[in-house]
Amino acid sequence: MENFTFYSPTFFAFGKGTENQAGEYVKQFGGTKVLIHYGGGSVVRSGLLDRVKASLEKEGLEYVELGGVKPNPRSGLVYEGIDLCKKEEVDFILAVGGGSTIDSSKAIAAGVVYDGDFWDFYQGKTVEEALPIGTILTISAAGSEGSPDSVITKEEGMFKRGASGNALRPKFSILNPELTQTLPPYQTAAGATDIMAHLYERYLTNSTEVEVTDRLIEALLLTMKYEAPRVIADPNNYEARANIMWAGMMAHNHSCGVGRSQDWNSHVIEHELSALYDCAHGAGLAVTMPAVFRYVMNHDVMRFAQVAVRVWGCEMNFEHPEVTALEGIDAFQKFLISLGMPKNFDELGAKEEDIPKLVEVLCRGDGRDGTISGFVTLNEEDCKKIYQMMI
Ligand code: NZQ
Ligand code: ZN
Repeated sequence: MENFTFYSPTFFAFGKGTENQAGEYVKQFGGTKVLIHYGGGSVVRSGLLDRVKASLEKEGLEYVELGGVKPNPRSGLVYEGIDLCKKEEVDFILAVGGGSTIDSSKAIAAGVVYDGDFWDFYQGKTVEEALPIGTILTISAAGSEGSPDSVITKEEGMFKRGASGNALRPKFSILNPELTQTLPPYQTAAGATDIMAHLYERYLTNSTEVEVTDRLIEALLLTMKYEAPRVIADPNNYEARANIMWAGMMAHNHSCGVGRSQDWNSHVIEHELSALYDCAHGAGLAVTMPAVFRYVMNHDVMRFAQVAVRVWGCEMNFEHPEVTALEGIDAFQKFLISLGMPKNFDELGAKEEDIPKLVEVLCRGDGRDGTISGFVTLNEEDCKKIYQMMI
């Protein structure tokens, strides 16, 4: 196990009705004037936004609102949010929605207290300071409710890039599984896929002797394997939604990633797909992961064989572990398809003729040096082959 530091100060309120305490928590964490940030309208239609406002009003808190965050959130609204917060002297940001809304909130929070362009953070500068943020989560997926990360797409060039820093960890996150019951099945499935991706990206490691995190990841993958089909079959299954919601947080607040190197190549390869085609990030991952895994499998066949046996119930072929490894990848892909996820470019809405452009932006865009690194370092030729495997 490698040396690490781990700082995860988010306060979590989990369960039915917890969104009605939003005002109390904002006050507890020092907010007096709040920006309520939300997406394209699901929180308006469900009545959640009104309940949140009532909760702030009950505590005598002032607020301004900014809706309109799109899935795969854009830089334009972030600039708008920064200006609004400065003008209104906002001192707390409350994200009501999914990963996109939370990430847009984090970008605004970092930008408000920074003299330069907020995009600097999405080009590698660590976020050391930000306005405090709280979240009320409505979809189990990105894990942004407990993570120090934010992903934004810059409109000029459509670069989808991430920023990071402990200052971006929410002060509090409200997790009520009931709020996810209004999700369309496709979004529920895309969210489950993203959660599993966050686990796989950490499982694919070059570190040795990391049993505790290996076992944690396997437990969470097994939970998702059990619960995701239950929630697709019955969207109102509160217990299944509750288990998925906490698994989504655990998968990405980094408890499972400490002390080990990680991959993240599937994520960066996918980010080009959701940037170009505006597909759901999880759906893009469902197509990307099996291709990446098959391509890099021989780098450490035993790692893939291990997850195949421990999670997917495959029988170990000691003579040919690559057979077991492949069976595990096949089982994972079959599982994602059974949830309703796409299996190839066509089903995702991606086009073969765009591959050169995808590779260019992935490997060279926004100052990259021609490679992406993780479990295996991949060059432009590798990435081209991986995209071709998705056709
Ligand atoms: O915008 P509204 O109207 O709210 O609709 C959303 C959106 O269309 C809808 N939705 C959310 N909750 C709902 C609901 N509809 C009905 N009922 C509800 N309860 O679902 C759609 C997707 O929402 P979005 O916020 O985009 O989903 P998700 O949480 O998957 O976030 C995706 C974004 O997070 C990034 C992704 O790249 C993508 O941009 N990621 C962020 C990470 C992080 N910050 O740590 C890590 C992830 O790997 C990921 O990259
Ligand atoms: Zn993800």
